Amino acid sequence: MQQPSELSDACPDHNDRTDLEQMTSSFISSQKTLEQQVADRAGIAKAINEQCWAFTEDQLPSLRMMNIIGSHDVAHFKRNMTQVFSELYWRGLLSTSSNVVDIGCGCGRLALPISRLLKEGRYYGVDVWSEGVDWCKAKIESEYQNCSFYTIKAENNYYFEERAPSLHNDFKLEFCPTNTADLAFAISVFSHLTRSDCVAYFKEVSRVLKPKGILYLTGFVIDRFFKDYQSRTESFGSLREEEPGCFYAFRGQDFFAGYTKRTWNAMLSEAGLEILSYELGSWAEKPGARPYQDTFVIGKAASL
Ligand SMILES: C[S@@+](CC[C@H](N)C(=O)[O-])C[C@H]1O[C@@H](n2cnc3c(N)ncnc32)[C@H](O)[C@@H]1O
Repeated sequence: MQQPSELSDACPDHNDRTDLEQMTSSFISSQKTLEQQVADRAGIAKAINEQCWAFTEDQLPSLRMMNIIGSHDVAHFKRNMTQVFSELYWRGLLSTSSNVVDIGCGCGRLALPISRLLKEGRYYGVDVWSEGVDWCKAKIESEYQNCSFYTIKAENNYYFEERAPSLHNDFKLEFCPTNTADLAFAISVFSHLTRSDCVAYFKEVSRVLKPKGILYLTGFVIDRFFKDYQSRTESFGSLREEEPGCFYAFRGQDFFAGYTKRTWNAMLSEAGLEILSYELGSWAEKPGARPYQDTFVIGKAASL
C-alpha cells in the first residue's frame, strides 16, 4: 500500500491541488475582510448622510447665504452636500483620520458633513467671504475643535466686487503646515479664479500636501465639446480669451473662468502638480458626463 508521501510523489497534481486550495481560501478570506471594510465604510457614510438630511434650520446657514454659494434652496444645499461628501468619501479621499484643506469653503456646505466624520483628522476651511467664514466659526468650529476657518485676504475680490485686472492677489495657506495634508479640495471655486490666482493656490497646495496627498477640484475645461456646445446653443457670447488658453466671461458671483487642458496642465506643472485622472462635466453637455463641472484628481508631480 502506498504511504501518503509516496502518494504525493506519485501524483504530481496532489501538491498543486493543496496549494490551490490554500490560495483559494486565503483569497476568499481577503474578500471577506474587504467586504467587511466596505460594509463598515457604508455604515459611516449612511450615518453622515442621514445626519446631513436631518440638519434643522438653526444648524444651517440662511437661505441668503446658500444663494451666495449657488444653492437656490435648502434641498439643493443638502443634496449637493451629501453628493460631494459621498464622492470624496467613496473615492477613498476622506477618512476619520484625514487632514483636509477646503479652498473656498463658503458657508460650510462640505465642512458640515466632514466635521461629523473626522476623529483624529483635521479640517481647515478658507474663503475670501468673511461672512461665510464667520458662520462656520460660530456653528462648526465652536463645536468641533479640529476644524478651523480662515478668511483669506484678497486685494482683488472679484467674486463680490468688480474685477480689477491690475490688482494681484497673493494667496497663502500659512496656517497649514508643509507636507501635512492628505486632501485639498475646491468645489466650484477654480471655475471662478483667474490664471494667476489658480497658480498661487496650486503652489500652496503643492506645499501643504503630503507626498501622496491629493487635490480634488472642479472647474471648466474649454475643449471641442464646449466649442460645439457654444455654437449649438449660441451661449457664452461674452467669453473672451484674455491670455492664451484662458477664457473669462460674466461678473461677480457668475464670473466664469475656463481653461484649455493644456493651460490646466501648465498651471499645475508650474506648482509641481499633475493630473492623475479627469472626468468630463455635464455643464457643456459633454458626452457621458456624470458631475456638473469637469473634475480633476491631482497629485504631486512624479519628479518631486
Ligand atoms: C460656488 S461657491 C462654492 C462654495 C463651496 N466650495 C461649496 O461647494 O459649498 C464659490 C466659493 O468660492 C469662494 N471664493 C471666491 N473666490 C475665492 C478665492 N479667491 N479664494 C477662496 N475662495 C474664493 C466664494 O466666496 C464662494 O464661497
